[in-house]
Amino acid sequence: MPNRVYIFDTTLRDGEQSPGCSMNLQEKIEVAKQLERLKVDVIEAGFAISSPGDFQSVKSIAETVKNCTVASLSRARTEDIDRSWEAIKNAVSPRIHVFIATSPIHMEYKLRMSPDQVLERAVEMVKYAKRYCSDIEFSAEDATRSDPEFLYRVFEAVINAGATVINVPDTVGYTTPDEFYRLISNIKSNVSNIDKAIISVHCHNDLGMAVANTLAAARAGATQLECTINGIGERAGNAAMEEIVMALKTRSQLFDVDCRVDTTQIYRSSKLISSITGVSVQPNKAIVGANAFAHESGIHQHGVLANKTTYEIMTPESIGLSRNTMVLGKHSGRHAFEDRLRSLGYNLTKEELDETFQKFKVLADKKKVVQDADLEVLLQHKAVEVPETYRLDRFVINTGNTITATASVRLIKFNGDEQIIEEVSTGDGPIDAAFKAIDKIAGISFTLEDYSLRSVTEGQDAQGEAYVKIRSNSKVYTGKGVSTDVFEASVLSYVNAINKMIYEEKLFDRI
Ligand code: KIV
Ligand code: ZN
Repeated sequence: MPNRVYIFDTTLRDGEQSPGCSMNLQEKIEVAKQLERLKVDVIEAGFAISSPGDFQSVKSIAETVKNCTVASLSRARTEDIDRSWEAIKNAVSPRIHVFIATSPIHMEYKLRMSPDQVLERAVEMVKYAKRYCSDIEFSAEDATRSDPEFLYRVFEAVINAGATVINVPDTVGYTTPDEFYRLISNIKSNVSNIDKAIISVHCHNDLGMAVANTLAAARAGATQLECTINGIGERAGNAAMEEIVMALKTRSQLFDVDCRVDTTQIYRSSKLISSITGVSVQPNKAIVGANAFAHESGIHQHGVLANKTTYEIMTPESIGLSRNTMVLGKHSGRHAFEDRLRSLGYNLTKEELDETFQKFKVLADKKKVVQDADLEVLLQHKAVEVPETYRLDRFVINTGNTITATASVRLIKFNGDEQIIEEVSTGDGPIDAAFKAIDKIAGISFTLEDYSLRSVTEGQDAQGEAYVKIRSNSKVYTGKGVSTDVFEASVLSYVNAINKMIYEEKLFDRI
């Protein structure tokens, strides 16, 4: 019987704190629900003390999720631990995650503490957290650049103080698989009470080895693997969940460990993250990239047609990607539509189904063929809508290569009653003109950080997915718009970002 490894997902903490990946409360709850469907073991929901928004999202996730442990990160400080506990105390299975750096560089320059002071603080804070919660994870930040002898002492002491999980982070993505394998083996043989704790690893991808290092650690006996969906995270990111899990499953004889992840939810999880953050996955990304299961060369196509295993070491179905050849169009009925959604892993309520079917019909009128990717866009957009302060009513854009672009945009403002506001602006191109007209209507100041447009599927009638990122009060809001008309998609994304900003700023004014 293979040994069990636990998958600890930190998409909502380490992933979310990376540039361009911030999410609002509703989006984080949607991600947490998806992680629960994916059946990860632990969801690190956030860093409760870092902001009122983080506190609220950790708390809401702790109260929503029933089948995973919910963790909140804390520095080794009483105020952090108090705040973490306040946020997670209603979880079915709460965990406080305490960390302090143990490397000479971090202790000297960041903490300005001696090794003995660090050890003492770590023990004190694990004991403090243990008064609240039985499940305590302790992380030795920058473990891979720490003195191993010191690391053993710290781990032994925190296990004696009540830590149930000891985490070995490769904080700066510095280690290599061989070296990390040896470190984990040495921790096992040099920490006398190691049998009383789970060994966890947390790898960053600065040298592109996060997944390889994580897998080497699993072979050395680490039984909790920390990761994020699509590998998002600080700098070059964290170890990618989908790569770790599919490596463990595909090479099960080599690793001889198993995890409880439902791999058929992998594709959907990946799509949800890229759709919420607007950070797309590179086409050749392992497991979830658009080309991961595409066979382009004649030789490969021939081989796959003769026998799929010639060039496929895992099936697209195993990650929840169908080889669907049946297409939907405007003549498709509700039954076929519902059936398709179910096979994509979406079980909607009757109301959700009614609403999505209406949207599908509108889309099918514009597009000859509605593909799975189009359906996913419809569904994901719905999941994370915020209340609208502004709604697009209509717009006209006049543009060309010999005239100044002009846009006239009319929005409906919901502010107790409905107010119609229209403005006109010129700009440096049609999108700039439209955004400037909207700026005049909204009359609030923020900076436009990023704008991007991509196509959901191929073909001239493909839907365009536009993303904008706007910054206000050091927070970034991502807006998304989808339409077969790229100007409309762009205007919708801008209005969506403004709505998110207004909604969130109002929400946290009240806290
Ligand atoms: O990379 C790191 O060291 C971390 C710790 C807080 C676990 O994210
Ligand atoms: Zn990290």
